[in-house]
Amino acid sequence: MRREPARYAEPVPYQFTHEDVAFLAGADGTAALEATAELALRPDTMVGDVQRLSQAYPGQQGALTATVLARRALAPRVAAAADWLLTEDAAQQATADAVARLRAQELARRCPGASVHDVTCSVGTELDSLLCQPDLGRVLGSDLDDVRLAMARHNVPGAALLRADALTATSRADVVIADPGRRAGARRTFRMSDTRPPLPDLLGVLRGRLAVVKCAPGVDYSLLRDEHGFTGQVQAISLDGGVREVCLWTLPGMAGRRATVVRSDGSGFEVDDTEPDDVGADAPGRWIVDPDGAVVRAGLVRHYAHRHGLWQLDPHLAYLTGDALPPGARGWPVLEEMRLSAKPLRKRLAQLDCGTLEITVRGVDIDPDQLRRQLKPAGTRSMTLVVARIGDRPTVYICDAGQRAEGTGPTGRPITGR
Ligand SMILES: C[S@@+](CC[C@H](N)C(=O)[O-])C[C@H]1O[C@@H](n2cnc3c(N)ncnc32)[C@H](O)[C@@H]1O
Repeated sequence: MRREPARYAEPVPYQFTHEDVAFLAGADGTAALEATAELALRPDTMVGDVQRLSQAYPGQQGALTATVLARRALAPRVAAAADWLLTEDAAQQATADAVARLRAQELARRCPGASVHDVTCSVGTELDSLLCQPDLGRVLGSDLDDVRLAMARHNVPGAALLRADALTATSRADVVIADPGRRAGARRTFRMSDTRPPLPDLLGVLRGRLAVVKCAPGVDYSLLRDEHGFTGQVQAISLDGGVREVCLWTLPGMAGRRATVVRSDGSGFEVDDTEPDDVGADAPGRWIVDPDGAVVRAGLVRHYAHRHGLWQLDPHLAYLTGDALPPGARGWPVLEEMRLSAKPLRKRLAQLDCGTLEITVRGVDIDPDQLRRQLKPAGTRSMTLVVARIGDRPTVYICDAGQRAEGTGPTGRPITGR
């Protein structure tokens, strides 16, 4: 008889109750959390750690362990969360504070004195940033999940909170912020109608109101416009090189596309589609430049190129080229260009003493690992191969190892939220 392959169930996140939140928020819970934070809580120590907790705090070991693990998961993104109450899912869904702060600052600048209602406030990450803006009016938070609301009450004591469905108008706040959930258990959902609440329904309810709605980086802009009548501004946001979200703004005067590049060291820049984008395509200059994912996602590669005096390698490619690496950008110094053919390429790389080899591919159907095995780099020099389709020809650019230019520099317009 054939055996079914073993199936391992995904671990079920701890389900917090109101009693848990009441305990954790009190003095005994705070002391118990401090003691729990001293434990490693690693897979190899977990059984012993939980046993110790169940002896010291009978019945509370699950809530204590889950809280400390969620705090650790969120700490790199939300500094204030060190003493927050939160669930594992809420930690995964929480907006990084560098991004939430920027959004709150922009709201305060565009709508001074405005009251703001976060209609999917969860445990309060965005509320915390909104409350730090003295130029904003009243800040209100709501969510369907009343355990998360109880946690938010502990985390952001200054916010007014209520349990409410985001699909029902429950306040007359000047501006509404919404961040529909994109996680179903451990999986992320990419379909607009699969978010909670569903994005299309939310956009319908918010039509005519001033709103800022977060959605998945992969959201289809044309579908938003053509099928859901969205006419505001689409903002793609990256943090430290990773595209985190796309944000839809319906504030007065906001339209088109914008890319916001945020780095945790405080640097960053913005580019939008009001800038010129007339750049050509030509042979490589000194550098091949890899624009930030937010610039690519917002469809602003040419605008970014124009700003920095770059040009395209090919009109269909997101890689740019130029004689200087723009401030903060990642790129590769070009040495020479070759046809994509393993044998001559292997010979040339050996002549150049190529050792560690990064291979980056755009528009060509090859497996970089397989190509690296064929090329057998055995020297000492760190190099990069940029493989790209130029016209209808797969082309290889032999480059030195990738570098990142410092800071935003004199030509990088700082983030102002235009
Ligand atoms: C992605 S989380 C929000 C995260 C939050 N912006 C943050 O940074 O911490 C989505 C939240 O929407 C809530 N939610 C789902 N459906 C809702 C609905 N119909 N009305 C209100 N809240 C809802 C969930 O309970 C969850 O807390």
